[in-house]
Amino acid sequence: MDEKRFAIRTYGCQMNVHDSEKVATLLEDSGLSAAETESDADVLVINTCSIRDKAEHQLYSDLGKLREWKSEKPGRVVGVGGCVAQQVGDKLLSRFNHLDFVFGTHNLRRVPAMLEGALDGRRAAWVGVDTSPERFDLPTRRPELPQGVRRRAFVTVMEGCDMFCSFCSVPSTRGREISRVASEIEAEVAALADQGIREVTLLGQTVNAYGRHDVRRGKAAAAGTMPFAELLMRLDAIPGIERIRYTSPHPLFYDEDLIRAHGELESLCPHVHLPVQSGSDRILEAMRRRYTRERYFGIVEGLRVLRPEIAITSDLIVGFPGETEADFQDTLDLVARAGLIDSFSFKYSPRPGTGAAEMGDEVPPEVAQDRLQRLQAQQRDQTLAYHQSRVGEETLVFVDGQSRRGGNQVSGRDPQHRVINLDLRAGHAIEPGMKLAARLVEATPHSLLGEPLDSSIRPETEVSAGRTPGSGATSQDFTGSRLTSGAADADVAESVDRAAGSAEDVLRVL
Ligand code: 5AD
Ligand code: SF4
Repeated sequence: MDEKRFAIRTYGCQMNVHDSEKVATLLEDSGLSAAETESDADVLVINTCSIRDKAEHQLYSDLGKLREWKSEKPGRVVGVGGCVAQQVGDKLLSRFNHLDFVFGTHNLRRVPAMLEGALDGRRAAWVGVDTSPERFDLPTRRPELPQGVRRRAFVTVMEGCDMFCSFCSVPSTRGREISRVASEIEAEVAALADQGIREVTLLGQTVNAYGRHDVRRGKAAAAGTMPFAELLMRLDAIPGIERIRYTSPHPLFYDEDLIRAHGELESLCPHVHLPVQSGSDRILEAMRRRYTRERYFGIVEGLRVLRPEIAITSDLIVGFPGETEADFQDTLDLVARAGLIDSFSFKYSPRPGTGAAEMGDEVPPEVAQDRLQRLQAQQRDQTLAYHQSRVGEETLVFVDGQSRRGGNQVSGRDPQHRVINLDLRAGHAIEPGMKLAARLVEATPHSLLGEPLDSSIRPETEVSAGRTPGSGATSQDFTGSRLTSGAADADVAESVDRAAGSAEDVLRVL
């Protein structure tokens, strides 16, 4: 396979992004190298998403266009993986005769062999389910390291989903929940820290369900798993890891320990992306989400009491079957009351084989579109208000690289996962692992502009990154009665007020 170059086109969630990193590693280990662009590539892999109709159609449109790409150079190979591959399987091969191989979400390790077969003219599809823990045992390339700028990495802790929300195709594309052995996760994170990684994002479809089946059956010790909060504690203790994030959690799996972890663990970032989907209890039930809006508020309040500067973001669906204007108003109300600082919102898209697809009672598309626009307008206002409330604050930015504007402006993330752009002074180059303390000076709807503080221009090892300087209570400050409100806006302030007084009260609500 000498001298062949590959490119990977990735759609969908961070799990897919991480799977693509794993496929890239496997291909590099087989002697291929990464192409600069798709037109330089001999092998093109598309990692697909089927969460909504649109995402699935994207594949068919891509494959149509790739006929020409393939015919431009002899020996080119096209492979398709991810969630559409898992669902449609070998039918993709019969539908697209220029497609060479198809691999499901559990079959990444077969990619090199399938590619070798394809180069010999053999087409194949592997979409079998693998329930063994060895499934996690894949090397991961860190594409960011050679460029020497990024210091962030994904780490898979669990895969699959047993929740079967009535709108969602994930249980059928990603399979049953399976948690990775904790010592392997720890070893991976420690190895990453040795390689210079300073921030890890723990990945799983319902990431905070980690270990739950083993714990419930009393088999955690034998399985090598543990409750999610305990895993976070272990990872927090690993030297060099300054920031831990996780995505995406399910509200059902927040227990007291996990909420407390947000007040206690130095490296756990003050940001949670906590999908709520709807603000209406009626719709939540029809979605089979298994929580109420009050429970969601309870979690958010608990987190805010223990970590006042925490930023909560979410996923929302509008136009779910049977959603009335009153249900939708409940969603708008939840977005305000929970003080969501940002959200991804989607029009409901029926997925074949899911419960909701059979419900009938569809919301007309123009009504769904109108609701989406109203929701997004409200969110834009809230996001901007949040950004404005942070102007004047000091924060710490892990720089990812040059900003979109280019020049000497860099872009990175602060502990709350906001995009922060910073203008470097002349002669101040972008350095590997750069972290800049900055004062936030200007808010826009999508990002904040910061000015680097002079004190922050120093070698990596001297910069401590766990907490945002000057951003509210630290775990040491927290006594239950000395709550400092790092609240973003009136709504947030209100929910902190309601929760203030005693964290114990909030935790008892759960
Ligand atoms: N229609 C619309 N949005 C969906 N999501 C998942 N399934 C659907 C669907 N059928 C959204 C949810 C989820 C996010 C990843 O995608 O909000 O949290
Ligand atoms: Fe889909 Fe629900 Fe599982 Fe999330 S928890 S992946 S929305 S089924």
